[in-house]
Amino acid sequence: MKTEDNFHIPVLSHEAVKLLINESLEHQIIADGTLGSGGYTKLICEKIKPTDKLISIDKDLNALKYAENFLKDHKDKITFVNGNFADLKNIISEISISKITGLVLDLGLSSYQLEAESGFSFMKDTELDMRAYKKDFITAAEILNSFTKGELEEIFENFGEIGNAGRLAKAIAEKRKVKKFSTTFDLVNLVNEEYKIGKKNEIDFLAKIFQALRIKVNNELANLENILNDSLDLMEKGGRIVIVSYHSLEDRIVKNFFRKESGKFKESSNPFYKTEVKPKLKVITKKAVMPEREEVKINPRSRSAKLRAAEII
Ligand SMILES: C[S@@+](CC[C@H](N)C(=O)[O-])C[C@H]1O[C@@H](n2cnc3c(N)ncnc32)[C@H](O)[C@@H]1O
Repeated sequence: MKTEDNFHIPVLSHEAVKLLINESLEHQIIADGTLGSGGYTKLICEKIKPTDKLISIDKDLNALKYAENFLKDHKDKITFVNGNFADLKNIISEISISKITGLVLDLGLSSYQLEAESGFSFMKDTELDMRAYKKDFITAAEILNSFTKGELEEIFENFGEIGNAGRLAKAIAEKRKVKKFSTTFDLVNLVNEEYKIGKKNEIDFLAKIFQALRIKVNNELANLENILNDSLDLMEKGGRIVIVSYHSLEDRIVKNFFRKESGKFKESSNPFYKTEVKPKLKVITKKAVMPEREEVKINPRSRSAKLRAAEII
């Protein structure tokens, strides 16, 4: 499915929505935590009954406005929320909902954000902001200008999986003594000055650096962990959780959470001591679902997508 003006082409949308709706449940109250261009929400609207409900959240106001217009024919079923999916507990309680039957997250950013909003792309010289939610606290430039060398090293190592991240952190700390970072090209130029690694390697390296900063600025991994932990209290029995992730750090969080909550034993530091517990989840995707070759051909951004789904028991 293509949106009118390529705001974003949804990835694995049919697979996600098929797994999300447990047809044996009488009523559906579904949360789409990453509304984006509205592709998933639209498919969900087409599948649920007129009396069912959908809460569609995005922290990016531009995405929300775009999707509200795109989905105007379905507006009676949808409550649109400009917020963070990590606040789902409060978001649903404010609209007097205590339990939901489905939660879907299609993580990361939309094509529109990557191309048009400030700081996300290293191919264009824009302000080094990277906040999808303008109420969020700190920009990428502020991180580069104010974090200690050690803190920067940790961000690049943990969120970009960059080897010898200390060298990069040191180069940033030296550079900012001369000139503060303010635009994407300030960072790109620093990388060019410090590393002589050829165009192809440089693109891969910059992608990792920008990913690391984006994850930190938007608190992406903590948001995911929070909503997964909350989801167990927020969902009805038989409810489905479907998560589409785009890099190994997110996928590992989802895989480990599903494994832990579907296990019959509580993990313990002593390998000889195990406590039996009642599993809270049943994993319904034995292996991660990935896009078919056809989808990757049409939409190369889908190539790293991995979908995992589980049901509350
Ligand atoms: C990959 S796009 C989702 C695309 C969507 N499934 C569609 O069909 O168009 C991810 C969206 O999630 C939003 N997002 C990312 N993290 C979020 C969070 N913690 N809370 C709310 N929205 C978030 C982004 O702003 C972006 O619009």
